[in-house]
Amino acid sequence: MEEKAVRAINALALKWMDEAATNIKQHMNEQLNIQTKSGRTDLVTNLDKETERFLVSQIQATFPADQIISEEGFGDQVTSMTGRVWFVDPIDGTINFVKQRDNFAMMLALYEDGRPVYGNILAVMDNRFIFGGPQMGVYLNDHLLPAPDAQPLAKGLFGVNGPMFARNIDHVQEIGLASSGTRILGSAGIEFQQVLLGNEVGYISHLAPWDMAAGRVLAESLNLLVTRIDGSPVDMLKSGTVLVTNKNALQTIEEFQNN
Ligand code: IPD
Ligand code: CA
Ligand code: CA
Repeated sequence: MEEKAVRAINALALKWMDEAATNIKQHMNEQLNIQTKSGRTDLVTNLDKETERFLVSQIQATFPADQIISEEGFGDQVTSMTGRVWFVDPIDGTINFVKQRDNFAMMLALYEDGRPVYGNILAVMDNRFIFGGPQMGVYLNDHLLPAPDAQPLAKGLFGVNGPMFARNIDHVQEIGLASSGTRILGSAGIEFQQVLLGNEVGYISHLAPWDMAAGRVLAESLNLLVTRIDGSPVDMLKSGTVLVTNKNALQTIEEFQNN
């Protein structure tokens, strides 16, 4: 896709997400309708659903031929990455949203024939948008964002998924202990933002496609790598362990997997 077309999509995405975020902030202190999904800590609220319905309907009305993969079921049953595929995570970090009314994100991404085109992560309560892609570059609100330094693992903070760290899945404890310190933020979107900003040297979690889609577009546009734990490519249609980091730290992380 040409840069001009991506910039036009960006203008729409910013408008939709801004409107959706304003709606969340207006209604989040009212009584929430909270339901559990796969388990006690996997929550969905009326505002997750309302936000997803709104974003999906905007995409469908503007780009009726595009397919949509979204978390709460308002999108399509997508079985192939051929053509244009959107990813929607209306509230990422729903448990933070419910318990803190803070530290949650909204994410939108677009891929074409499997290639990253556009990603947007909004840290809702901080009004911090990080958006862009390979054609247009990556922006932090209105500033172009430089690629973060490729720090070694030992020199940076490392974001982890809490249960993976606690249970030492995929050697996450050793990886975290070899870094300058582990961080558990509870939102993949916020963690990706920290890596993009150079505040964390990497992040590892078990993620669904909508949790990683925007982060992957932005990370790869800033020379970062997004892989499975063994360094293999991620599958945009499947959940699994996702690692985002730079090439120097990746080498160290891979060594833990081989020991
Ligand atoms: C979750 C968050 C969390 C991550 C989970 C995700 P949700 O997303 O990003 O940090 O560890 O794997 O499912 O369900 O709150 O949108
Ligand atoms: Ca979500
Ligand atoms: Ca999510």
